[in-house]
Amino acid sequence: MLERGSATGGQSQWPGKAGNLLRSTRRCSSFRWKYIFLILVLTAVVFVYNASIKEVVSWDSTKWWFAANSQRQNGVSPNSSGSSTGTPGSEPTGFVTEIIPVALRQTDASVLTQQTTPSRAEPPTPRPYKSPGPYLVEYPSEYHFIINEPKTCEQQKSFLVLVVPVAPNNRAHRDTIRSTWGGEGAALGKVVTLFFLLGLHGGEGAPQIQEQLLQESREHHDLIQSDFLDCYKNLTIKTMVMLEWLDLHCSGASYAMKIDSDMFLNVPKLIGMLVNAPKTNYMTGLVARGAMVLRDPANKWYLPVEVYPSRYYPRYALGLGYVLSLDLPKKLVEASRHVTAVYIEDVYLGLCMSHMGIPPTDPPNGNYFQVFPGTYSRCAYSQLIATTTHPHEDRVSIWKDFKRPGPYC
Ligand SMILES: *[C@@H]1O[C@H](CO)[C@@H](O)[C@H](O)[C@H]1NC(C)=O
Ligand SMILES: *[C@@H]1O[C@H](CO)[C@@H](O)[C@H](O)[C@H]1NC(C)=O
Repeated sequence: MLERGSATGGQSQWPGKAGNLLRSTRRCSSFRWKYIFLILVLTAVVFVYNASIKEVVSWDSTKWWFAANSQRQNGVSPNSSGSSTGTPGSEPTGFVTEIIPVALRQTDASVLTQQTTPSRAEPPTPRPYKSPGPYLVEYPSEYHFIINEPKTCEQQKSFLVLVVPVAPNNRAHRDTIRSTWGGEGAALGKVVTLFFLLGLHGGEGAPQIQEQLLQESREHHDLIQSDFLDCYKNLTIKTMVMLEWLDLHCSGASYAMKIDSDMFLNVPKLIGMLVNAPKTNYMTGLVARGAMVLRDPANKWYLPVEVYPSRYYPRYALGLGYVLSLDLPKKLVEASRHVTAVYIEDVYLGLCMSHMGIPPTDPPNGNYFQVFPGTYSRCAYSQLIATTTHPHEDRVSIWKDFKRPGPYC
């Protein structure tokens, strides 16, 4: 577990040194000594400033950033600022820098150049963008819903809310889900409501995609869109925004499941498990225990010691599909104020759960959730709740086969 602020320990040394100097010079009363002291302090300040710049240059997190950010791995020079929103205007705040922000700032060579040659006379830009660094995300923060369905849960008296995070331009995935497990509507007499959760499209054609989303929303009334930039690195924001939304608009329902768009979901089996499940403080799915923090910078889920010092993560439910009782969103959002938001979304929820002292629990049957896609068979799929699927499989025809009448096994 990581308390807010504990990841930023790089700034504390020089004020201490300066403080000692100050105390030791109190005894020197002559003007000459004061003068020497002033020079000493100035020298120390210049030294620390230079040292901090050297540290910035030598700490090769640019490599880590690109390694961790697989989409940008190829063909991007470190010079071309991997972060799409890193505004070059962000003013370095001298030597009072924290390790994490420095790590991202240095991915932008133009900022580095500015730092070494502070030749600016123009007034600073208003409130420059302050990046949280490559391993942390901007949360908590005030995000707003630009497409919303605030009344649906209440009107439908939903028992289970399915939330599927998708990229804004991924209409095909949404349509597949609507025509398969997402379109069930109810099972065992319990209402199941489906929502897709998206952020803002960042790349080319954003206005067109936004227009199409509005149209799609008028058609299906199942889109929830928030105003953060939708990208892999922002998944934690997406998850937290989902929890905020569930708390605001679906707290009358019993359970929610966050499920990835490439999964197969056996809705009746899930409802069957939930009618006998704990009603509060309940989170289940594929629960990882004693997972080691990945320290190889080339790994997709790398986290440096500076960001998360412990060798192991607390228990957490894998992000591809987990279920939670709907008292938890409010508690998790509250807990998130005390836990530094890392970019690995499921780990982050685990950190928040651990902060609250509520460990996620295993499902009653170890085969209910499957992380490795097995070969489809009616019999096998009838016995599980959720599984990943092969990307080349035709999920619509599998679904048709699964739903046809007749015994499963
Ligand atoms: C940054 O990249 C541009 C071209 O992409 C190149 O012209 C320029 O010299 C590079 N600057 C540095 C500091 O490497
Ligand atoms: C994540 O979203 C925030 C808010 O929209 C944005 O400022 C930030 O640049 C995004 N992160 C990345 C890596 O794009």
